[in-house]
Amino acid sequence: MNDAVTIDRASAMRVAARPIATLPLSLTINGEVRALQVEPWTTLLDLLRDKLDLTGTKKGCDHGQCGACTVLIDGRRINACLKLAVSLDGAEITTIEGLGQPGELHPLQAAFIDHDAFQCGYCTPGQICSAQGLINEGRAKDRQDVREQMSGNICRCGAYTNIADAVLEVLEKQA
Ligand code: FES
Ligand code: FES
Repeated sequence: MNDAVTIDRASAMRVAARPIATLPLSLTINGEVRALQVEPWTTLLDLLRDKLDLTGTKKGCDHGQCGACTVLIDGRRINACLKLAVSLDGAEITTIEGLGQPGELHPLQAAFIDHDAFQCGYCTPGQICSAQGLINEGRAKDRQDVREQMSGNICRCGAYTNIADAVLEVLEKQA
């Protein structure tokens, strides 16, 4: 047997046997302070969905191109698939579950229902979190602004007109 191959295999087995290093992380998620241990490569999206069971936040492309994973970090909309969780120590995260719940809907959630602003619903949590981020930014004044400033949130069902109707309704009420 080739010696180099034998050594490589032995090294690989030693590396595989090592415990995976995790780092401490403190986040406030939907108003609750969470002390966590995470692997350095874990994205916020995987942390939310796989470790904290907050599956309202969706994984679409996993590459920052669809907006399905949009959450609010300190009130600003961010694609959770692009953020390493360990880079967010001390941050305040709001997911769709933190915006509202059945029986206590956020105005955007209610408006999406009233305006029939979804079909399959896969993009909807990201659309709603993005809409809240857009409202927080205070730059959108009309339908054109809403369509443009939410262009990073893809809806494969093409519900864009109704989504803009829903967001505009809340935007105008809060103006
Ligand atoms: S899953 Fe994050 S942008 Fe598509
Ligand atoms: S409602 Fe189906 S992707 Fe938007």
